[in-house]
Amino acid sequence: MTFHHTPHPTPTSPERLQEILANPGFGTHFTDHTSVIDWTAEGGWGSARVEPYGPISLDPAAAVLHYAQEIFEGMKAYRHADGGIYTFRPLENARRLNRSAVRMALPELPEELFIESLEELVSTDKAWVPDGDGEALYLRPFMFASEAFLGVRPANAVSYRVIASPAGNYFGGELKPVRIWVSRDYIRAAPGGTGAAKTGGNYAGSLAAQQQATAKGCDQVLFLDPLRENAIEELGGMNVFLVTADNRLITPALTGTILEGITRASVIQLAKDRGMQVEERQVTLEEWDAGITDGSITEAFACGTAAVITPIGELLDGERRIASAGTGEVTLSIREELLGIQTGTGEDRHGWMHRL
Ligand code: PLP
Ligand code: COI
Repeated sequence: MTFHHTPHPTPTSPERLQEILANPGFGTHFTDHTSVIDWTAEGGWGSARVEPYGPISLDPAAAVLHYAQEIFEGMKAYRHADGGIYTFRPLENARRLNRSAVRMALPELPEELFIESLEELVSTDKAWVPDGDGEALYLRPFMFASEAFLGVRPANAVSYRVIASPAGNYFGGELKPVRIWVSRDYIRAAPGGTGAAKTGGNYAGSLAAQQQATAKGCDQVLFLDPLRENAIEELGGMNVFLVTADNRLITPALTGTILEGITRASVIQLAKDRGMQVEERQVTLEEWDAGITDGSITEAFACGTAAVITPIGELLDGERRIASAGTGEVTLSIREELLGIQTGTGEDRHGWMHRL
């Protein structure tokens, strides 16, 4: 499919762009363009285009505004020393988008079209890819029900878009251990629900818990399994790993209620490559607490596209405080290795990087 390009009538000035790139933050500045492909039940996927970034005109009855029929992805593009711009395992995002699409009764997007939509946007806005330490261009593909119809059924008109935003550390400032609030009042997902889909409602549902976390001085929420007592699942936007003193990694198994993180899968691979044993299984708060106390668990970290690998400093479970070792060596070393592959300074032995 050929993408039709419409240049931005008033592109961001080079001076303003330099100002933004000097301090990108996370998710506040957006590039000059967006990739767009619309779909209808009768015609399938229509023409693909790169349009100037700007507000979307949407009928007030558009189904997404009422029933949240929406999915998204998150990935990053990195500027390498060879001058090329690369993204990390994009086919995995294409496949996850389509798994989310099936769950939310949205149309699947052909994988080639997904990759092309990234290539076209990034080549148009390549000046926006930052190259500072830990910085990248965050790419946000998303798909929503645009049909104006208030009956509850899968929409017959859907829009797919990609926006891009220069990004630094998700938690702001330098890398430091985050504090986690254990959600007791709210759950994120249950068997048969939408937990494994990357759909807006999961994040809307996490916000009340995130408000509690913020009120307690915490950065993120840890959600528990609603059926298995005190079994941990994941954070609002990240997967969780524990590191043991005898060089094992432990992470909750994918049970259908957890987002299948691409960073999670990559961490598991890198850990196995260095001879670590990786256990994907049930992990309880009691095991975490006891392990920290007796020294058998030495580190904990969160991982995801936005967060990369971020050490978990401590957990707050109501009045109970579960301490951790702060920023551990294994966490930092896996983080360095992953970032090395992503930014092109380390060997990409699994062929994970895709030149856009
Ligand atoms: N879990 C949730 C709920 C997320 O939103 C994310 C972020 O995308 C992740 C885990 C990590 O997934 P990935 O590593 O593919 O970014
Ligand atoms: C990501 O890491 O890409 C996410 O989607 C997490 C969060 C920003 C929603």
